[in-house]
Amino acid sequence: MTVGLEVEHLRVVFDDYVAVADASFRVGPGESFGIVGESGSGKSTILRAICGLAPATSGSIRLIGPQDRPRPAPGTRPFRRMVQMVFQDPYGSLHPRQTVDRILAEPLAIHRIPDAERRIEQALDEVGLGSGFRFRYPHQLSGGQRQRIAIARALILEPEILLLDEPTSALDASVQAEVLNLLEEIRRHRSLAYVMVSHDLAVVTHMCERLMVMYQGRAVEFLTAADLAARQVTSDYTRTLMEAAVGFRRKDPMPDSAA
Ligand SMILES: Nc1ncnc2c1ncn2[C@@H]1O[C@H](COP(=O)(O)OP(=O)(O)O)[C@@H](O)[C@H]1O
Ligand SMILES: [Mg+2]
Repeated sequence: MTVGLEVEHLRVVFDDYVAVADASFRVGPGESFGIVGESGSGKSTILRAICGLAPATSGSIRLIGPQDRPRPAPGTRPFRRMVQMVFQDPYGSLHPRQTVDRILAEPLAIHRIPDAERRIEQALDEVGLGSGFRFRYPHQLSGGQRQRIAIARALILEPEILLLDEPTSALDASVQAEVLNLLEEIRRHRSLAYVMVSHDLAVVTHMCERLMVMYQGRAVEFLTAADLAARQVTSDYTRTLMEAAVGFRRKDPMPDSAA
């Protein structure tokens, strides 16, 4: 837990379409940072640009931390090992014809990491599934179990930063809470930094210490979870988001508001 992330003036343009106009933020080592905003505001594109799946038209992305720690450049294999992503859709993100074993072995092979057997068992354990799931296919798993496998696949490389793109929004409310609790436990245990994207303010407030509100490709506000709880917001757009979030009016903003 020594590496964080700094994004400065990131801009992502697809053909002529400006998906991200200008985004800057910093996530300290071990910190959990949220990105909220309505659909189409550029949240996923930011995460995709960080891990090289979308082109950064301009701006910079770099790892931050002590000088004596490796901080590989984006686009390199060591960077990809250090910064792992979990996608929104647990149905689309796992290869349907691969067993769990194969899905988890693949990143180890790519990064030439030995000891696959032990690491796979350990990763399954960490996400609460156990070795009984090792030779199942994705269609033999529930949505929540699939997302646990996707999380195990990210963790197996021992990253320092996890990029989480709406990791629970495809799941039922009760399963959603379980997976969020698991993610929180993992972060505490491994001291990981998270960048978590959600359209759900309640989820992000529950999970993140600080957050950025995106609107039409731009950051319109930065807040702490405490600011939000105290309703100390400055942008009208953030206030609109708050009012729209049903769970947010409750005392305990637990993520059963997604429905
Ligand atoms: N590969 C792409 N090519 C063209 N347009 C894209 C691409 N990816 C995303 N976009 C567009 O960029 C905008 C932001 O998308 P996205 O980052 O997915 O938003 P969010 O995750 O906040 O819902 C959307 O209008 C989307 O249609
Ligand atoms: Mg998205």
